Amino acid sequence: MSQSFRNITGTFDILPQAYTSDGSRVESSAAWHFVEERVRAILERYGFQEIRTPVLEPTELIARGVGSETDIVSKEMFAFERGDTSYVLRPEITAPVIRSYLQHHLSQQGGVQKLYYFGPCFRAERPQKGRYRQFHQFGIEIIGADDARADAETIAVMMAVYAGLGLSDLKLRLNSLGDASSRPLYREALREYLAPFQSDLSDTSRRRLETNPLRILDTKNERERELLRDAPVLLDYVDEESRTHYDTVKMLLSDLGIAYVEDPFLVRGLDYYTRTTFDLESPHLGAQSSIAGGGRYDLLARELGSRDPVPAVGFAAGMERLFLALEGEEIELPEGRAPAVFAVSLGEAAGRWAFLFAERARRVGLLVEYDLQGRSMKAQMREANRCEATRVVIVGDNELSEGKAIVRDMASGDQESVSLDELIPVLKSKSH
Ligand code: HAM
Repeated sequence: MSQSFRNITGTFDILPQAYTSDGSRVESSAAWHFVEERVRAILERYGFQEIRTPVLEPTELIARGVGSETDIVSKEMFAFERGDTSYVLRPEITAPVIRSYLQHHLSQQGGVQKLYYFGPCFRAERPQKGRYRQFHQFGIEIIGADDARADAETIAVMMAVYAGLGLSDLKLRLNSLGDASSRPLYREALREYLAPFQSDLSDTSRRRLETNPLRILDTKNERERELLRDAPVLLDYVDEESRTHYDTVKMLLSDLGIAYVEDPFLVRGLDYYTRTTFDLESPHLGAQSSIAGGGRYDLLARELGSRDPVPAVGFAAGMERLFLALEGEEIELPEGRAPAVFAVSLGEAAGRWAFLFAERARRVGLLVEYDLQGRSMKAQMREANRCEATRVVIVGDNELSEGKAIVRDMASGDQESVSLDELIPVLKSKSH
């Protein structure tokens, strides 16, 4: 009996070559490296340092942090029990970072912590273009600063990342949710406004009208969106201090020449936000539009058990959606690394020589490939061409007995005979 296995729907393999899966392009591992390195360099230039937290977290951390009424927690968690512990594959990285910050008393390091992260996240959403069950985020968190400059810097570094990759077709949406004091007033106003339309609401929204009416603003239901068009606006209920904070963020963005549109209904899909929220959109993501998003979350640390309030702000971005945007704006990515040298050998002794040569040359830093299948010379030359080697070293038993190899420059087709003793230094000098 033979059985074949496939990856789980909504996940994908990253291969040395780009390929198409379910109509979407999956970029090569070289393209992932390229983008990750670019992003990392920009984040570090802004003074961020990397934090790595586990993929597994306690379910309760995410339920408390992200909010039990959110889609992420109520419908999309990959959670399971083991013994008397409930584990979740993290759906996002902000709550884990704050957990880690509190657990390791990072506040005692003094000053503001500026952290960045890369890693897989898991949400049991219906998979489609740009929406996966395992996807990859990168992001930053500025922890310990309530200054509006921290909000503006978060947005600035996010924009710098995309600009650094050549993307320009982006739209920034901005809002302020006010602080905890403004929320109950607005909640009541929204409840009052929606109450007469209860029968038009979905079951979920009807429930949320009781438990967490702000979540309804995040609805994707067309009919509900229509209803919300004339709903009371959150900003009208925002406290004075939050309003000043918001005005400062907008002023700082204008100072930087960062364009934005205000969206009074932007609450985002996570419950921890206070004051600033923002979302960055690209038109190239299919049914999804958010390439990155974030905001301020001054109450999250308290929610996770901190005695002291810890003001913080951050953003997270999806790698897969970044690739879609790059494809949409026709920005080329590197396609893998070509070896500097391909060793073509003919005969058994020469085959053994090629093996040894490759090892020695690699020790001094050259990227070398050779034939591992005992193929004909013609097939080996074809392989050298396919993998775009810059030079080919050809050795047969004759060359071996003469202590020489033929070195061919693949671009010009020029050939020369080089003594085997000189071969590695010669190749090394040509590889610079
Ligand atoms: P989020 O908006 O839930 O925010 O996710 C951030 C980004 O992750 C989205 O803009 C999108 O690019 C990507 N993303 C989310 N779900 C999927 C999916 N199923 N498939 C592919 N990509 C996806 C957060 O996670 C917050 N932690 C952001 C934050 C950081 N707020 C403050 N600090």
